[in-house]
Amino acid sequence: MRVGGQSCSSSSSISFRKESKTTEDEDEHDSTGWPGWGFVSLVKLNLHKISKYFDGHLVLDAVTLALEKVHTLVLIGPSGGGKSTLLRIIAGLEFPEAGEVQINDERVIFQEEPLLRHRRTVGTVFQAFNLFPHLTALQNITLPLEKVHGHTPAEAEEIARQFLTRFRLEKHASKRPAELSGGQRQRVAIARAVSIKPRLLLFDEPTSALDPEMTAEVLDLIKQLRDEGRDFILVTHEMGFARQIADHVALLADGRIAESGSVEAVLEHPATAAARDFLSRVLKY
Ligand SMILES: Nc1ncnc2c1ncn2[C@@H]1O[C@H](COP(=O)(O)OP(=O)(O)O)[C@@H](O)[C@H]1O
Ligand SMILES: [Mg+2]
Repeated sequence: MRVGGQSCSSSSSISFRKESKTTEDEDEHDSTGWPGWGFVSLVKLNLHKISKYFDGHLVLDAVTLALEKVHTLVLIGPSGGGKSTLLRIIAGLEFPEAGEVQINDERVIFQEEPLLRHRRTVGTVFQAFNLFPHLTALQNITLPLEKVHGHTPAEAEEIARQFLTRFRLEKHASKRPAELSGGQRQRVAIARAVSIKPRLLLFDEPTSALDPEMTAEVLDLIKQLRDEGRDFILVTHEMGFARQIADHVALLADGRIAESGSVEAVLEHPATAAARDFLSRVLKY
């Protein structure tokens, strides 16, 4: 375990130093003031015929989606349609039975060793209960920085404190999740996901367990990330928010992409019965 950990740490700390050098140069001109932030990218995402079974039940049925350049892909669709499973496959947390995931022309190899490397490049935020309950907000952020990304405790704390400050959470650094509001918890989870400098952020219904006020504070933060050029895939039922931020919307129903296109195309002029049915239900009240 220790040997594995050390070998991970040396390779990622080298790559961090390389990146942070470039980032520092660019940060001088970076009006965002975003810690560790200095590049604007667009993700090329290629999902090719991804299939997944659970207990003999087909949950994803040859899901195919090819996007040349996307900052913000929003996945919508009825519950049980396969959104979380697809997100977990893209994150390298779940193995597909068939198909390919390519991010910026790099194929995700679903084998243990390359998958560990892939997971380190992706930041994930799930519905709720993301954080370790026995650790403080600060420790929740420093733990992966130290254990997975090879930072020294001092480096990890410096990075974590930058993000806590940036997300207006510095007062809460030494609180445990139970002492934080739901919105604060999700902001810590987002800080943790962003602090690892991921090439892609994956959000799975990050506001579904929150009341409206806390939902707004988390959506504000996600919007801020988007405006600063972060690339992400977001699963949400917040249709108004999806409209505001999506470059591309894909509707997943019964394990298939029922419809995919611009906000205008999918949300305003849905072509399929599956999309019309779903939208009429979520927009009813
Ligand atoms: N770990 C699992 N084991 C067995 N079935 C699962 C598992 N995860 C998801 N499923 C099933 O896969 C289907 C798709 O689930 P999910 O990806 O969570 O959909 P969504 O996020 O769109 O609600 C559902 O029928 C769900 O019950
Ligand atoms: Mg889900």
